[in-house]
Amino acid sequence: TAVHVLNGPNLNLLGSREPEVYGRATLDDIRAALAVRCATLGVDLVFKQSNFEGDLVTWIQEAGASGAPVILNAGALTHTSIALYDAIKGSQAEVVEVHLSNVHARESFRHHSFISPAARGVIAGFGPSSYLLALEALFGNTIRKT
Ligand code: DQA
Repeated sequence: TAVHVLNGPNLNLLGSREPEVYGRATLDDIRAALAVRCATLGVDLVFKQSNFEGDLVTWIQEAGASGAPVILNAGALTHTSIALYDAIKGSQAEVVEVHLSNVHARESFRHHSFISPAARGVIAGFGPSSYLLALEALFGNTIRKT
C-alpha cells in the first residue's frame, strides 16, 4: 500500500514563508514526520511538491490509476483550479484535502475550495499535524475501520 502526498505552489517555501501563518516547520520536516508514521503503518510514502498546476494534474492521475489515496495540499490552486477538480473526478483518486492554516478563518477568497466537492474529506488548521491527521483518517485504527 502507498500514499501519495502532493503539495502545490509555494509550499517549498515552508519554514520561511509567513511563519506567523504557516509555522516554522519546513516541507522536509513534514515529509520526515509522515515517513516515521508511514513506517509504523507499513505504508509506502510518495511525497512531492510542484509550483506547476500541470504537475499536480499528472500526479493525481497517476495516483488514481494506481489506486493509492492522496493527501493533497493544493495551496492557492485550491481556490482556483477546476483542472485539479477534474483530475480527481476523472481519475477517481481518493483525496484528503489538507491545509496547514484554517482557511475559513482567513481572507474570503480562501473560503471556497474547488477540491472539496471531489474530496473524501478535508482537514485544515492544524499546521503540520493536518497531514498526520489525514494519514490517520486513511490508515489509522479509527472507528470507521471497526
Ligand atoms: C494553504 C492555504 C491556501 O489558501 C494557501 O494559498 C496556501 C497554503 C494551507 O496549507 O494553509 O498556499 O493551502
